[in-house]
Amino acid sequence: MKVKIGIIGGTGLDNNGDLIEKRNEKSVSTPYGSVEIIEGKIKGVDCVLLARHGKSHSVMPTNVNYRANISALKILECTHIIATTATGSLKEEISPGSIVIVDDFIDRTKSRIYTFYDGSQHALGVCHIPMSPAFDERTRNVIIETAKELGIQVFPKGTVVCIEGPRFSTKAESNIYRSWGSDLVGMTICPEVQLAKEKGLLYASIAMATDYDCWRECSEGRVSVEEVMATFKNNVEKVTKLLIALIPNIAKLDWTETINDLNNLVNSSIMLPHQ
Ligand code: ADE
Repeated sequence: MKVKIGIIGGTGLDNNGDLIEKRNEKSVSTPYGSVEIIEGKIKGVDCVLLARHGKSHSVMPTNVNYRANISALKILECTHIIATTATGSLKEEISPGSIVIVDDFIDRTKSRIYTFYDGSQHALGVCHIPMSPAFDERTRNVIIETAKELGIQVFPKGTVVCIEGPRFSTKAESNIYRSWGSDLVGMTICPEVQLAKEKGLLYASIAMATDYDCWRECSEGRVSVEEVMATFKNNVEKVTKLLIALIPNIAKLDWTETINDLNNLVNSSIMLPHQ
């Protein structure tokens, strides 16, 4: 089975012009709206680059059209999604600039559309998709192994709390997330990860800690947009390097069984209406 990899670029990766070769920009129509993407190749492997917040970073986390984005990648016959995301660190040892290959999430969003199976004609039935494991384990392992090959230090697991935003957390909220044992706080993992699963796409996320949020008594103060952007910019090369080595490593493997297993899981999670 030939792989095709969707890369969802978050804050800081949106304008990464040098990632994809043989670039072809186009608009993809989906039942949920149209999506601007760039198709091309990384090391000879078919890839699609999608800027989560739009070309000019004008779409805030609540208003990202997650269903259109995932649907566009499915229509383009992607097999995998590698997402990048900027997050705040909730742990001392995860210093700004660190990369975490997250393996779980806590969803604290409240104003998003969480499923394709909403009673419309595009997806019939009700889908109760299991979310453990939350991210594709095999894809996560390839990312971790690739980072090892490159000598890039990554945290091999971590739980991210997804907040609604666009505001950052209060200190009380940040401390609650810490008391839950969470490692990171971000604004975009949900519902991207579950929508990808519903579409049978193998999804993993490379999270970068860009700041210490606001829980740290001894920190310089609190997170700011300036800090998030500066940390991402200073460390984006690491993420780009990882992605460029990762894509051919994914393409080397046979994913037939993994994708079949996921499709079977999705099919067995859909309750169709009684006749
Ligand atoms: N993205 C980057 N830093 C963040 C933070 N501290 N909270 C939520 N989202 C973020």
